[in-house]
Amino acid sequence: MQIRQPIVAVLGHVDSGKTSLLDKIRGTGVQAREAGGITQHIGASFLPSEILKKVCGPLYVKMGGANQEIPGLLVIDTPGHEIFTNLRARGGSAADIAILVIDVNRGFQPQTNESLKILQNRKVPFVIALNKVDMISGWKKNPKTMFISQSVKEQDSFVQTALDELLYNVVGTLSILGYNSEAFYRVKDFSKEVAIVPVSARSGEGMPELLAVLVGLTQQYMQKKLDQTEKKTRGIVLEVKEEIGLGMTANMILIDGTLRKSDSVLVAKRDSVIVTKPKAILLPKPLDEMRDPRDKFRPVNEVVAAAGIKIASPDLDGVLPGSPVYATTEESTIDDLKKLIESEMKSVFIKTDTKGVILKCDTIGSLEALTDMLKKQNVPVSTADIGPVTRRDVMEALAIKERDRHLGVIIAFNVKILTDAQEEAEANHIKIFHDQVIYSLIDNYVNWVQDDTA
Ligand code: GTP
Ligand code: NA
Ligand code: MG
Repeated sequence: MQIRQPIVAVLGHVDSGKTSLLDKIRGTGVQAREAGGITQHIGASFLPSEILKKVCGPLYVKMGGANQEIPGLLVIDTPGHEIFTNLRARGGSAADIAILVIDVNRGFQPQTNESLKILQNRKVPFVIALNKVDMISGWKKNPKTMFISQSVKEQDSFVQTALDELLYNVVGTLSILGYNSEAFYRVKDFSKEVAIVPVSARSGEGMPELLAVLVGLTQQYMQKKLDQTEKKTRGIVLEVKEEIGLGMTANMILIDGTLRKSDSVLVAKRDSVIVTKPKAILLPKPLDEMRDPRDKFRPVNEVVAAAGIKIASPDLDGVLPGSPVYATTEESTIDDLKKLIESEMKSVFIKTDTKGVILKCDTIGSLEALTDMLKKQNVPVSTADIGPVTRRDVMEALAIKERDRHLGVIIAFNVKILTDAQEEAEANHIKIFHDQVIYSLIDNYVNWVQDDTA
């Protein structure tokens, strides 16, 4: 067995403290520098196992960390702002496990729900970081310990009660959503209950336990998934952009295998799968190597999963963010990999003659998330595609409306509505649901259907 590091996505509502949490872990890591530094990746950070051991202390062994060593954790931060559904979805797709961050005083918020749905749809297990416990009125930080289980015991009883109440609000909401959850110190079976770890990204309390729970879960339940024996080289595109001095680039998470500069890399555009040889594979330079801030990247000849990397190639223009990536050294396997991506894309793009709503989105991530959510609501989809709302979409919705007035609509997420489409829709009374919040978009549609029937 050769176990790669698990990929951990950090998801949650805006300002719940995702980045602060990572900064704190990184900071703790910097203090533990002699044990080996934390490496910066593109869109991610790698926490090596030596650092996890230091931060977790005796818990590391207790959680099974020493049994079959994972080499560390690759942690992806995601933005909480509502318009970044696509990045949350892509982060969620790459992840083996996730940290869902909730502000203890605010509880569930719209993007908490959205993140949870993404994890649900992708079947990604998760741990809850109930953050900002230092903001609970009367909270006292014990300077001697970072362990939250210790810290909770030493709080005044009214503070303990307040924490319990806030925690059980989250347990209650999760139970309505179909999850059993419990404060991690009361969890009996981590495979059946979602662990909630109270933390403070400000004081650092709870970091050892949060990391220990992640290590424990991945060690115990993910060995097979993480084993790299005979794994295809694959990943997912996070972003595609042109960069000064590099030309077209794609930021991606390499999920499995080894990517070599000489490999043929396969990625999807809207209408084709392309094969390219990267001009460069790039990693961020360590700070102390950076003489010129523009000189941010270090070219490498190969990189081993899991990793956040940037590849450069003029062929990447038009590649879809969220696209699967496969790479191979053997020309003979290119055709099979091409078919694999084609079939993956086929399940994303829908084009049928059956009755159903028309869905237009900005990226693969948001398209998948919305398709899944509509499916859960038993709303059939006739077309699911990336791109602006066109006149043709309106004409199709019109044809469907004649058979079913509730399905003859367009649901658009983060895309333009072309002028002639808008005009045609107005003339024919075709409803276009348009929202930047994936969750409200579905709600608006479902509520309209309900109200319209009543
Ligand atoms: P987005 O990336 O915008 O979605 O936000 P985020 O989830 O990354 O939150 P961020 O880390 O930017 O924190 C938002 C604010 O909350 C900042 O002002 C932080 O200083 C503050 N904050 C984060 N964690 C804590 C905490 O544990 N305690 C306190 N008191 N403040 C915190
Ligand atoms: Na923020
Ligand atoms: Mg952030």
